[in-house]
Amino acid sequence: MNILILGSGGREHAFAWKIAQSKRLGNLYIAPGNAGTANCGTNVDIKVNDFEAIKKLVWEKGIDMVLVGPEDPLVNGIHDFFLNDDVLKDVAVIGPKKDGALIEGSKDFSKRLMEKYKVPTAKYKSFTKSNIEEGYSFLETLKAPYVLKADGLAAGKGVLILNNLAEAKNELKNMLLDSKFGNASATVVIEEFLNGIELSVFVLTDGKSYKILPAAKDYKRIGEGDTGLNTGGMGAISPVPFANEDFIKKVEQKVVIPTINGLRSEGIDYRGFIFVGLMNCDGEPYVIEYNCRMGDPETEAVIPRIKSDLIDLLEGVANQNLHEKSFEVIEETAATVVLVSGGYPEDYEKGKLVKGLNGIKESQVFHSGTSLRGEDVL
Ligand code: AMP
Ligand code: GLY
Repeated sequence: MNILILGSGGREHAFAWKIAQSKRLGNLYIAPGNAGTANCGTNVDIKVNDFEAIKKLVWEKGIDMVLVGPEDPLVNGIHDFFLNDDVLKDVAVIGPKKDGALIEGSKDFSKRLMEKYKVPTAKYKSFTKSNIEEGYSFLETLKAPYVLKADGLAAGKGVLILNNLAEAKNELKNMLLDSKFGNASATVVIEEFLNGIELSVFVLTDGKSYKILPAAKDYKRIGEGDTGLNTGGMGAISPVPFANEDFIKKVEQKVVIPTINGLRSEGIDYRGFIFVGLMNCDGEPYVIEYNCRMGDPETEAVIPRIKSDLIDLLEGVANQNLHEKSFEVIEETAATVVLVSGGYPEDYEKGKLVKGLNGIKESQVFHSGTSLRGEDVL
């Protein structure tokens, strides 16, 4: 089977590393990939949202399956693009269609789904500029801290947590009236603050059955001891010490099953990963958010703990026979630590040379955003 992975992060390198171990693999392509994925397959310099160029590649290389790493192409409808194209319609796409990607693309949609299918989550209301006054009143009924979320994708920056009411009202105004996050904040979800400890549970589903993948926790602050600015994630661990078997069972019963059944009841044929961002509040799971993809850097801690053949599982997703696939997890612990250029997540120097990676024997190195240049040696 020939496979194309879309993306260039550590998540995609972890996918490529795992897929390259499968006996079922023919050729592996990664677009655009990074210096690490070049060791697992062939990088192709195509952007993840350039659907026409992806089509040409899939056609020329006889690709059978496309695994979509980031949310952007999914929210932009890459799966729908394949289904609506005579040349591409039989190629398997792992990742939901536009309607399913809304679980990440619209906070308002995901909150409504949770409410309708009784998935535990923070109490909320959504507002637009036409009812901003009601938004101010709703804020007055809540206690600090106040949680404001831009409805649409805002490059991970669309959630504001504010400690006082005046500030919260002002930010609501900035989001709704002054387009603080552009069109993404034309609708704003205001919700109750959840007190607890966060973790993520990942689900692979063919729309009917599912496999619950190892849980992970990422650490987002840049500084030592969980301090400083937020990042995309400076590291992750799996398993999560405070998510025991009982807790995961609760997540399955109260979150995973109603979510998958809910999507199906809405007429959404969801085939791909669901990333469930959770708060553990005194042993009870509450959903903070859904994402329509795997997490990064969580994938780098989750994928090495999956013993089963990933191609076999992904085929189960595409063919809707995931329930027939065996799924085994390695009991050992995985921890990912992200090394970044100084200054990140603010301004930082790019184009630095990374050396000495060949000497690393006891860890697995996953690359993110790196590239190979000239005679550079890793
Ligand atoms: P999101 O973009 O939805 O993942 O939100 C970003 C971060 O804000 C989450 O990872 C949480 O740490 C925090 N957060 C979001 N919603 C809530 C909430 N209702 N209560 C407490 N923290 C929250
Ligand atoms: N690490 C968080 C995310 O992938 O959204």
